This record gives sequence, C-alpha cells and structure tokens, in this order.
Amino acid sequence: MTKKILQVLAGEAVWPPPVWLMRQAGRFLPEYRAVRATTTGFMDLCTTPEKACEVTLQPVRRFGMDAAILFSDILVLPWALGQGLEFEAGEGPVLPPIRDQAGVDALDVGQVRAMIAPILETVRQVRAGLIADHPDTTLIGFAGSPFTVACYMIEGGGSKEFAHVRAMAHGQPELFAQLMEKITAATITYLSAQVLSGAEVIMLFGSWDGILSPRLFRQHVIAPAARIATQLKSRFPRTPLIGFPRLAGMMLGEYAHNTGFNAVALDTSAEPSLAAGMIPQSMAIQGNLVPLAVVAGGAAMREEADMLLNAMRGRPHIFNLGHGILPQTPPEHVGELIAQIRAG
Ligand code: CP3
Repeated sequence: MTKKILQVLAGEAVWPPPVWLMRQAGRFLPEYRAVRATTTGFMDLCTTPEKACEVTLQPVRRFGMDAAILFSDILVLPWALGQGLEFEAGEGPVLPPIRDQAGVDALDVGQVRAMIAPILETVRQVRAGLIADHPDTTLIGFAGSPFTVACYMIEGGGSKEFAHVRAMAHGQPELFAQLMEKITAATITYLSAQVLSGAEVIMLFGSWDGILSPRLFRQHVIAPAARIATQLKSRFPRTPLIGFPRLAGMMLGEYAHNTGFNAVALDTSAEPSLAAGMIPQSMAIQGNLVPLAVVAGGAAMREEADMLLNAMRGRPHIFNLGHGILPQTPPEHVGELIAQIRAG
C-alpha cells in the first residue's frame, strides 16, 4: 500500500484523510511520562536514541497514527550551534540570550554535524522500527523555521512580545541578518542529514513567524524557507516539505506560493475554507483542529472535527491540530477522534 501521507503530499485528495497530531509524543501519554522519568532531563531524552525512538513510536502503537514525528525539539539546533540550553521543570527552555556581535560570532556552524549525531541515530532507529512493524506509517523529520529559532536564541527562552527580537530585526538589521544566515545554513545541514538518515517528509515549525510585519515576514520567513526548500529539493527532489507559518494570517497565500513547499499547516486562527482559498489547489493543507476541543472531547470535539473534515473534503488534506496537543488531554479522546476520522 502507498503511504497515505505521501499520496496527499503529492497533491491527491485521499478520503478519509490521513491523520497525526502535533506533539503527539508527549506528556499527555502515561507511557511517555514513564520514559521521561528515567531521564535526567528533556535534553537527555532527546539525545538518548533508544529512549527517543521509543517515545516517537508510542503514539503510532497506541493510536495507529499515519505519521511518526521524530522526537526532538526545535531548540536542538541552537544547542548544536553551541548556545547553552536547559529545560527547567515547569519553566520551558532557557538559553543565554544572544544580543550582540560576540554572541553571533560564537555560534559554530561547523560543529553542528557532530552534535546532531544522536538525533540522526534516533531517526535511523525509528525508520527501522516503522519498516518492521508499521509499514504504512510515514516518518516526519523537522526543524524550527529560522526566524522562530532566532526568537528563542535572542530572547533566551519563550516570550509574550519578543521585544528584543523585533528590536534587533528593525534596529540592527545587519547583526540580525548574520544570525539568520548561520541558523539557515545550520538548518539546511540538519535537515539534509535527517533525510539521509531516513526521514521521509520534512516539516518546518514557524511558531512565531506571524509576529513580523509583512515586509520583514517576506525577508525573514518566506526567503529563508524558500532557500531551505530549494536546497533540499535539489538534493532530495522526492522528499515533501510542510511549512507551519503560525499566525501568518493574510501572508498565508504569499507563503504558500513563494516557498516551494508541498503543504502548508494551518494554525487554529485560520478559517479552513478562507485559508484554502489562498493556497494553490494542488498544495496539501495540514491542520487545524483546536487542541482544546480534544481536551473537551464528546460532542464539542465531534462537531469541530466534522466541520474541518467537511471543509477540506475534495482537497489534499492531512488532518492535524492547529497547535500542539495539550498535556491535560485525555488519551481516550484522541482514540475517539481517530475513530471518527477513520469512519469518514
Ligand atoms: O511529538 C512531537 O511533536 C515531536 C517532538 C516535538 C517537541 N517539540 C517535543 C517537546 C516537536 C516537533 C517540538 C517542536 C517545538 N518545540 C516547537 C514548535 C511547535 C510549537 O509547539 O509551537 C516549539 C516552539 C518548541 C520549543 C519548546 N520545547 C518549548 C517552548 C517547550 C516548553 C513548553 C512545553 O511544552 O513544555 C519545549 C519542551 C518540549 N518539547 C516538550 C516536548 C514533549 C515537553 C518537555 C518535557 O517532556 O519535559
């Protein structure tokens, strides 16, 4: 059987649509929490291939997802570039912020290849596991979009406003461009290595891409994404690419037309039919059920999911959430959602 996700990414409308969920390997699963408890921290989990492979496969085993997404994090890239990274319990990621020339100069693109070795070993183990036990499941590799990664690197963690990032992009454009250049080059190296290790699809997570003005969105979101796509397509013409420009809003159409990706992932703010009107008919759409509907479950979840299924019917569509699954989601609700989608 052909893999459904690959069919959709080739532009085919498959019914019922294939499904996977962002952050499907994570804290909402007791079996994830059990493995996580055997580690010294989140980065220990990401860099221990046997454990990372195990948690990648857990949602595939439990729910029969159509895709497995590599268990890692978008912040592995700054870590691989030599920026310190810690995940503090309950606080999210903490990095020493990069605000000046010395900070940018200290990033070492040359060491990325060696640093990512354990992640690539996870990719190889997951692919072997899928071939053995889940031959219809597609392996998705990923990185953050360069701008979104820059957000965390400059801010030193998450933020509500990303004031330092915007200040640098507008006020120190040359320094910002140097940082973006290093991140983009490292991202191309990282993603190419994932494909060579067994990733069948690549997704670029742009969680904060939409905070930029339209002019800077073109410059720092669309242009680097297009460069990554050109590089990957020249080396791996058969590997489809999915972009997730969260909060892109009215820039969605330009992103879809100008990046060279095979699919666009919609966030929860995108009205499915309106968004579909901005995206070429042959391009796949991924998304965009609101994660809180899966926390609620029952009729609330069924109605939201039905609306989405109906809106996307006849288009190449990969069913997914509009943002990551929430840790408080009851796993049974996910089982019910998958059953509803499979029933068509
Ligand atoms: O199942 C999967 O989706 C695969 C793994 C994956 C993780 N993070 C695991 C993770 C993926 C694809 C990501 C992407 C990611 N990481 C994004 C883009 C998507 C999005 O959610 O917007 C971003 C912005 C990050 C950065 C990040 N990682 C933050 C802000 C945090 C802390 C907040 C949180 O959810 O805990 C993380 C930690 C993280 N990444 C966890 C997981 C499972 C939780 C850590 C733990 O288990 O202790």
